[in-house]
Amino acid sequence: MTDEDSELMHGGIVNKDLAQLRLKPNLRGYDDLRKTFKWADADKLVEWFPNGKINSAYNVIDRHALGDNKDKVALIYDDGEGTVQKTTFEQLYRETNKFANVLVKLGVKRQDRVFVFLQRSTELYVSFLGAIKAGAIASPMFPAFGPDAIRDRLLDSSAVALVTDSELVKRAYQVKNQLPDLKHIIVVDKADTEAGEISYRAEMDAASDDFETVHMDPEEFQFMLYTSGTTGKPKGVVHAHKGIVQQTLTSRWVLDLHDEDIYWCTADLGWITGVVYGCLGPWSCGVTQVGLGGRFGPDRWYKSIQDHRISIWYTAPTAVRMLMAKGDDLPAKYDLTSLRVLYSVGEPLNPEGVTWALDVFANKPFHDTWWQTETGSILITNFPEMPIKPGSMGKPLPGIEAQIVDENGDVLPEGEEGSLVIRPSWPSMMRQIWKNEPKYNEYMRNGWYYTGDTAQIDKDGYFWYVGRADDVIKTSGERVGPFEVESALIEHEAVAEAGVIGKPDQLRGNIIKAFIVLTPGHTESDELKEDIRKFVKSRLAGHAYPREIDIVKSLPKTRSGKIMRRLLRAKELGLPIGDTSTLED
Ligand code: WT7
Repeated sequence: MTDEDSELMHGGIVNKDLAQLRLKPNLRGYDDLRKTFKWADADKLVEWFPNGKINSAYNVIDRHALGDNKDKVALIYDDGEGTVQKTTFEQLYRETNKFANVLVKLGVKRQDRVFVFLQRSTELYVSFLGAIKAGAIASPMFPAFGPDAIRDRLLDSSAVALVTDSELVKRAYQVKNQLPDLKHIIVVDKADTEAGEISYRAEMDAASDDFETVHMDPEEFQFMLYTSGTTGKPKGVVHAHKGIVQQTLTSRWVLDLHDEDIYWCTADLGWITGVVYGCLGPWSCGVTQVGLGGRFGPDRWYKSIQDHRISIWYTAPTAVRMLMAKGDDLPAKYDLTSLRVLYSVGEPLNPEGVTWALDVFANKPFHDTWWQTETGSILITNFPEMPIKPGSMGKPLPGIEAQIVDENGDVLPEGEEGSLVIRPSWPSMMRQIWKNEPKYNEYMRNGWYYTGDTAQIDKDGYFWYVGRADDVIKTSGERVGPFEVESALIEHEAVAEAGVIGKPDQLRGNIIKAFIVLTPGHTESDELKEDIRKFVKSRLAGHAYPREIDIVKSLPKTRSGKIMRRLLRAKELGLPIGDTSTLED
């Protein structure tokens, strides 16, 4: 660290000299705001139709296209291969209108489920927002998903339409005969569509660019995203149009978006971060966003910041660690002076990540933010005006009551570890788990929303993440359910039984590790393990496969036959075994 940086760091705290900040933070006076803020104040950040109706996409696109931001660039899409496409708010308005008309012409009805399965591209944003304008429930899917993951989502939600491209559509065809409700497959990049496919281009060219965005009840749904829990298949987390209020507020207060900012969220739209902070929130604030196609690469990421003069950057700890691992010479080759504030989300950000950033980004630390697919927007965070304690998630947003409690819902004393809970309800909170009330109710206990995380609060009110209270795996910040991986594993002919855990990893936070019992006639070999890995990758998802596989004779199970992942984890990590009274033998 340089001398200048050490001035920022006192007793491990990153202090902020507010006079030195390029722009005044949007949120100032946190302590007072915590006392005075009312959610009704935030309602004014968005536009409402008569009779209390709303549409999130109207706020995200239309209000800017119909106002002073008409000619402002909304999206800078950089394919990472030399082609940059700029789209203004007005152009996005016309394109999303067209797409809404395409859906209406196909007969897609209010609150029908429309899935978008695309690589990052202008069409991805257009179809996602166009669907919301039309009153459908839009759902983006991560492009690394394989046929099993696609089937689980489209089947559970009875999706009627899928927007995809000529490569990804092949995976959908592998399971199409299991999807009776799927009526429309819209392919964005094919001139000659096959029987049963709809050409995006042809339909868009024929569609009017006039559309009246559907007036929705604030409690009607804008989008849904499937996410993983400990047990069962992924569950559909459903978000209401009302959420745009908090998605807008947090983009201003946390991401500190100002009119002149050029903003870049590195998350894919298949994840909640991409949806809320790579699309909805920042555009609702009328800010220019960068979308970078292709894969992660230190060179191209730094180049992107330099070329597009990015000022606000929202990324993930694994990416930060990968950049750190590349060394400090590389960023020194680029002009990164446009950066103003940096953020991260998805898993714990190590203190080293925060301080490293001070070094390479001219005194700008990463601000860790905490939230979940279910919470719909950032709830606990480091604000730009606030000193940072590296390693801490920061403090709750004004309007949010967060606590550490025990299993009875009783608040624990300062410094004690327990369940991180939030007091319902906040505007962007999920409204249901799609058609699964019992699952929704599992979150709600003792008058609290249980996040599934454990944490503690220090004497200054800063929150510190401890871990997950359940078996959910965070690998490279992406959320994976052990049951999904186990289900994919046992589809392989050589696998009789499988137990899956997260194993701590320096770079990725956790990696997926599988313990497998082989079916008779199969013997352990490196080739077999590699074959099993490939199998899961191709069926389930490119990111959700076990990097490590141990072949075992048997798996620890309860008397009722449930695999005790806790024991697998304890054994793997050399932890105390704990209570084994329910163990089978
Ligand atoms: C889980 C939610 C919503 C953003 C992307 C993740 C973990 C999230 C942090 C953080 C430590 C974090 C938690 C949480 N997580 N942010 N700042 N520090 N852990 O959304 O996929 O729904 O995962 O990610 O375990 O419960 P998600």
